[in-house]
Amino acid sequence: MHSELRDQATQILLENDRGGYTVPTARLYPYQWNWDSAFAALGFSVFDRERAWLELDTLFEGQWADGMVPHIIFRRDDPDYFPGPAIWQSGTTPPSSGHSQPPVVASIIRHLMETGGPADRERAKVLFPKVYAWHNWFHTMRDPDGTGLVGIVHPWESGRDNCPDWDIGLNTIDVPGDLERYERRDTDSVDAEERPTSSEYDRYLTILKFGRECRWDHIKIARDGPFFMADPGIQFILLRADRDLLHLAELFDLADHGRQIEHWIERSVDGCQSLWNEKVGSFCARDLRSGEFSNAMTNISMLAFYAGAGGSDQRARLVSHANNILDRCHYGFPSWDPRDDKFESKRYWRGPVWAMANYMIVQGLTECGELGLAERIRLDTLRLIKKSGFFEYFDPITGDGHGGTDFTWTAAIYLAWSRARPSSQAA
Ligand code: GLC
Repeated sequence: MHSELRDQATQILLENDRGGYTVPTARLYPYQWNWDSAFAALGFSVFDRERAWLELDTLFEGQWADGMVPHIIFRRDDPDYFPGPAIWQSGTTPPSSGHSQPPVVASIIRHLMETGGPADRERAKVLFPKVYAWHNWFHTMRDPDGTGLVGIVHPWESGRDNCPDWDIGLNTIDVPGDLERYERRDTDSVDAEERPTSSEYDRYLTILKFGRECRWDHIKIARDGPFFMADPGIQFILLRADRDLLHLAELFDLADHGRQIEHWIERSVDGCQSLWNEKVGSFCARDLRSGEFSNAMTNISMLAFYAGAGGSDQRARLVSHANNILDRCHYGFPSWDPRDDKFESKRYWRGPVWAMANYMIVQGLTECGELGLAERIRLDTLRLIKKSGFFEYFDPITGDGHGGTDFTWTAAIYLAWSRARPSSQAA
């Protein structure tokens, strides 16, 4: 690893620090985002453990009374971002958005503990009940019928905003005539060609309007809202996080919590099977209202390894699929299959490579003994950063960086990999 890049990565985290929480990047994303903060904590832990824990503590300051940890926490109104607190109207202190994001936190906490000492264990113990309440929220509010499949109520909840996975859910949404007029701010700092389209934005705002108008009644949103889909990303990340949370419950002698978490895990392992799309030979997103499948493999399908999901035949098919996809790119892993006509190499989640997704893919593949594939993806990520810098995401064909610059999670993953080879990554 290059010490110059390592210094640059450290500098990015320090500069994106807003005093206890980190913004993903200046201007484009001026608030605290949920899974971005989890990865920021991972990055900080390489050189400042106290600051790493503080990032998680401030994230949980935004936790709702029902356990949800929102996807954005608004500590001050910033005109650079739309939609801000006045549109969401969460009615909480601090103000926040009205849905969640992939719950990677428990896995990061376990990592911090296993790379730390007794003080880290104490910090983890304090956070445990809060993380448990959040997981409980996912298993009840996002799976009200106890099916083992956790839904998302907005593409933004997946953290993969405009992935073609969501097209089937978005296409059924009628944009109401009384949708308020709005002005996007994201295209002020990033080329519109790299961002979601205006028709997608209208639908994002339509879903948001439903939540706001029912005052964020999450059961109502799941049952009657305009959008309810299952996301392999949330499903796999939550399953992995439940396994890590169970490990913590055992360590802290919390037997009742442990039993409940075991029950969640059992149900989720079964639930994963309803995401297996035999036609594609991969786990795919699915509309929970119509049952319709999304029809291509994504980077997030590869998190089956990270979750410990799927049987050996399914995993073998994923590996062979992954190799075919990687052979068509110069840099993996793309967020949409380049052989599909919806692939767009520069447009956000419709093709580009994301470093933090690669981090989780590499961790899962390594743990499952797929070392060659894991190393290929890890080295691709490092080559991208070396060639283009710490961008938000990268074109899998040209390797060019796109979106925000000096991006927190890209820097954090570089730092995490500079500390440990993947074969020694903690669980
Ligand atoms: C975009 C990404 C999301 C991320 C946020 C802040 O909305 O899709 O995953 O959390 O930006 O970086």
